[in-house]
Amino acid sequence: MARLAIAAGNWKMNKTVEEASEFAEAFLSLSPNTSDIEIILCPPYVSLYPLSQKLAQTGIKLAAQNCHWETKGAFTGEISVPMLKAVQCQYVICGHSERRHIFGETSEDIGKKVKTVIYFGLNPILCVGETLEEREAGQTEAVVFDHLSKGIVNLSKEEALSLVVAYEPVWAIGTGKAATPQDAHQVISYLRQQLAKQFDKETAEKIRILYGGSVTPENIYNFMKDPDIDGSLVGGASLDPAKFNKIILESLRASQ
Ligand code: PGA
Repeated sequence: MARLAIAAGNWKMNKTVEEASEFAEAFLSLSPNTSDIEIILCPPYVSLYPLSQKLAQTGIKLAAQNCHWETKGAFTGEISVPMLKAVQCQYVICGHSERRHIFGETSEDIGKKVKTVIYFGLNPILCVGETLEEREAGQTEAVVFDHLSKGIVNLSKEEALSLVVAYEPVWAIGTGKAATPQDAHQVISYLRQQLAKQFDKETAEKIRILYGGSVTPENIYNFMKDPDIDGSLVGGASLDPAKFNKIILESLRASQ
């Protein structure tokens, strides 16, 4: 069953509103193909609204990098899912490793976020991945199982259809040392088996699972050649419009 590929650019804490808008203009001038692949930009919160204006009718979608699980209230510094929905956000990254490791988010918090994102009709991109230490100790499957199972703990089969999972080994993020396509394949097929156990095979076959961690225009082709890898979550290389467009072109070339 063919799943629509995704190329998602996670800008992290980069680009002012003005720089985000310059990116959008340069990127749109490259006429990215939005019919055969879902293109998602994940800018900082303050650029979501201006980008939603610039990208209206282009087919390019927006994701937030985080959210809170409550709808509103006394949570200083937080942003709710209805606020994101109101600025045309369709995706929310949940449980990025930087949120887990720098800001101490727990898998339980992340499960609540995933549930709320789906409740409001948006799509979570649930990130899972092991550290180098965990990999070397042979704990990769145990760690990604923990991240996945707690992230999807309260979902029904119908809700699971809104889910996107991203396998992002922590040691590959921002290091220039991507996983091999074989490593990514192994973990991603394990994740799909777990999704089949939790929901059913048919549902698991519909859920897109991305790879992330030092994705570049040069290495994306080999990841996307693997039928189990449905797309990429790109950090550094998504900050440059030409590089990100090349990742999209290479992803499409691999699916031909
Ligand atoms: P990177 O980041 O592509 O810069 O390694 C990926 C991510 O953190 O999503």
